[in-house]
Amino acid sequence: MKKLLYHFDTDVMPSVFDSVVAYDGGADHVTQLSGVTEENCNSLVEGAIYTRAPKDKKNTAIFVGGSDLIAGQKLFQAVQNEFFGNFSVSVMLDSNGCNTTSAAGVALLNQATNLQGKTAVVLAGTGPVGQRAAVLLAKSGANVRLTSRKQSRSAEACKAMHTRFGVEMTPMQADDDVSIQQAMDGAHVVFGAAKAGIQLLNAKQWQNHPSLELIADVGTSKILGFEGIDVMDKGTERYGVKVFGGIGIGALKLKLHRACITKLFESNDIVLDAEAIYKIAQHMAK
Ligand SMILES: NC(=O)c1ccc[n+]([C@@H]2O[C@H](COP(=O)([O-])OP(=O)(O)OC[C@H]3O[C@@H](n4cnc5c(N)ncnc54)[C@H](OP(=O)(O)O)[C@@H]3O)[C@@H](O)[C@H]2O)c1
Repeated sequence: MKKLLYHFDTDVMPSVFDSVVAYDGGADHVTQLSGVTEENCNSLVEGAIYTRAPKDKKNTAIFVGGSDLIAGQKLFQAVQNEFFGNFSVSVMLDSNGCNTTSAAGVALLNQATNLQGKTAVVLAGTGPVGQRAAVLLAKSGANVRLTSRKQSRSAEACKAMHTRFGVEMTPMQADDDVSIQQAMDGAHVVFGAAKAGIQLLNAKQWQNHPSLELIADVGTSKILGFEGIDVMDKGTERYGVKVFGGIGIGALKLKLHRACITKLFESNDIVLDAEAIYKIAQHMAK
């Protein structure tokens, strides 16, 4: 029986990246649907849950993607609200790679050092990847600061993640030298999660920083989040700091993303969001 993956994307155009990884993760056929919302997903979910016999339902799965994490979370919940009894299929949330990318990055950081009690700063943490990285750092026992160029946006992101995961994080504005220095004051870990191509810290702002131990940067474009690091860094020692660059993290992210797709087809009741995906990442990072 063919393994069918239905990709519900909250954006106008569904992600090519997610479709390639879906095939590489073992789907036989991927159907990408765009503009899917919590309001209009009902009949789509019905099509997935009513069409195959109980023992065959594990061969149908749903993937929720798109660039808006909050819309993705709502859709992910709405999909599950349609399930009852054995009328369910496995489902995964990974808006803009939020869960797989942050899980890979935080798992590598947690391997490098015990994050319990560390001060971790997620710079430009208001996007999908940054919000989930902040959650996983907080769940690993770190005291997390989440920054934005606007205080209101960082506060909004912290509130949304508190509502979903119950984690406490400190919202901060970091948009000039002084506020960036304040955000970095006493930091042990910094996770760069800005839009592609944005430099977050120049060399002076992190090299010779008195307390910094670890950097993770998910950026993979020509301009990286931290001046003087390399995209291939994977625990590379620079100025006494262990650095993980965008490909150093991305290699694990891709393996993890594929493994999650494979897992979806193991049974018809698997739910993959941040916590479950992070567990798989921790296992794979060893
Ligand atoms: N390595 C991998 O495998 C991998 C996988 C997936 C994604 N990524 C990368 O992960 C990063 C984060 O992805 P995402 O989807 O979460 O990002 P995003 O939503 O595009 O952007 C994240 C945040 O960047 C900030 N930002 C935008 N323009 C900025 C500017 N000019 N200066 C400073 N900050 C700016 C914004 O925060 P405020 O407006 O609140 O300041 C925004 O919320 C991207 O670079 C993406 O390419 C890497």
